[in-house]
Amino acid sequence: MTRRVLQRNKGKLITSTLLMTIMLTTGIFTLLMFKNWLHNQQQRLKEQHFAKEQIKRRFNQTQKDAVHTVHRLVPVLAAVLSRDADLDAIVHTLKEQKSKKKIAENQLEGSSGSISQDSMSGDSQQVPSKAELWQQLKQESLVHLMVIVYTMCMLLLLTRLKLNILARRQYLGSAIKLAVENESERSQTMNRWASNAWSYAVGLITGKQSSPDSKVNLETDNSKQSSPTEDRAAVVACINEEAFLSLSWWLLNRGWPLAQPLIEKHVRLQFGHLSPRDRLSITDFETLLSHAIHDINAELLAPGPQSPLLQCFLPDSPAAQRLVLEEALDDRTALRILFEDDSVLRQLLRETTACLQSTATLIVLESLVNESFHYIMQQTEQKVSKNARKGPQNGPPEAYPVALYAISVKEVCSDVLRHNATDDYNNEFLQRLDAVPELDDLSASVYSNFGF
Ligand SMILES: *[C@@H]1O[C@H](CO)[C@@H](O)[C@H](O)[C@H]1NC(C)=O
Ligand SMILES: *[C@@H]1O[C@H](CO)[C@@H](O)[C@H](O)[C@H]1NC(C)=O
Ligand SMILES: *[C@@H]1O[C@H](CO)[C@@H](O)[C@H](O)[C@H]1NC(C)=O
Ligand SMILES: *[C@@H]1O[C@H](CO)[C@@H](O)[C@H](O)[C@H]1NC(C)=O
Repeated sequence: MTRRVLQRNKGKLITSTLLMTIMLTTGIFTLLMFKNWLHNQQQRLKEQHFAKEQIKRRFNQTQKDAVHTVHRLVPVLAAVLSRDADLDAIVHTLKEQKSKKKIAENQLEGSSGSISQDSMSGDSQQVPSKAELWQQLKQESLVHLMVIVYTMCMLLLLTRLKLNILARRQYLGSAIKLAVENESERSQTMNRWASNAWSYAVGLITGKQSSPDSKVNLETDNSKQSSPTEDRAAVVACINEEAFLSLSWWLLNRGWPLAQPLIEKHVRLQFGHLSPRDRLSITDFETLLSHAIHDINAELLAPGPQSPLLQCFLPDSPAAQRLVLEEALDDRTALRILFEDDSVLRQLLRETTACLQSTATLIVLESLVNESFHYIMQQTEQKVSKNARKGPQNGPPEAYPVALYAISVKEVCSDVLRHNATDDYNNEFLQRLDAVPELDDLSASVYSNFGF
């Protein structure tokens, strides 16, 4: 009985191996064949209630894992981004100048009739004037806020994409195994054939360049136990997946500064003409900020090779990638294994790149930025009216000095990057971003589709 089953499978195996060899010579046809095959497997999976539930639960968990990962990265982000913009130092200098001025005014009182308003600002060439400091605070706090917004949106998006790509890779591996297992009376050989064909098919679909012959060889001696090879392959795949995740180092350290000049330019274009004493209503401020964001999006999220967006997400050259891996993976052995065989990593990166270059992703990123805009406007409005109540009341109450906006935006920056040591997952801004429905739609399509 068992013998006959084996015999029959052997027959099947030989035909399938033969078939495969033939198919290798007809590239595009093979690709379509496997796409069909995988599609059928997927369809069959969809009919299996058990697998479906499992897959759904896995999807939910993956989205949670993604936002938890970003929550944990918030302190890192805060440290990295604040290194660049030291708003506190500007505020400190401003306060210092104010107290110096007060002392000077007290000393001058009575001794001279004419007190020059600008006596303090003109006393030294090196020290920036009060007006210059306010200009600096205005520009830098807005740039800092925009950098935080774009970096946070990109980080959440990238983490979602990566984890969904990995989760699908894992669940499909096991789910297809399960389905094929059931179908062929739990025949081990068929099972292995399926998983080999699966990895082979993935390679084809994503254009993996590894030699197809090795796969065919695996097919032919299928009847033998090859667990050491499988173990080794599992280790290599695991290290590759780890390297894939660790490449987020790039966005956190090298990626976001590439978007900064663009942000600086558009903030200056919208807000540059305003002096700290000018008054703006909340609506005016909102209009200027939305123009700035619109123009940043137009350049940053434009599809095409001239957009710096892809370079923000991923290392832009093999040399840069190697540098990041050496930086992020400190295990020398793992690094050596990875450099020997990085085919899984290259395949994952190809898929991620395809996702990142798709219009769907650009739209999701824009939705995230829009959501951020609403959130930061809400926060800024609260801060501005609160800070205005503290200060002296003059001028129309619905318009506030630009200086007040600068101080308020600085406060919003630190709120947005706030992290709570007792409760890791308590960042309100991130929770708002994570609830953007387009993000779930994109995640679901990455999680469930082939060949994005
Ligand atoms: C996934 O999460 C959603 C909402 O968070 C819930 O309604 C749904 O039942 C969950 N599905 C599974 C399979 O856990
Ligand atoms: C395996 O197949 C049988 C019918 O042949 C079906 O009843 C059962 O649900 C399947 N099991 C799984 C896990 O799909
Ligand atoms: C973002 O907001 C702008 C302005 O309100 C709007 O034109 C655009 O369609 C929005 N984009 C998305 C993806 O929702
Ligand atoms: C941190 O989170 C805990 C629990 O959610 C909360 O009770 C506490 O007030 C938070 N601390 C700060 C500083 O926000």
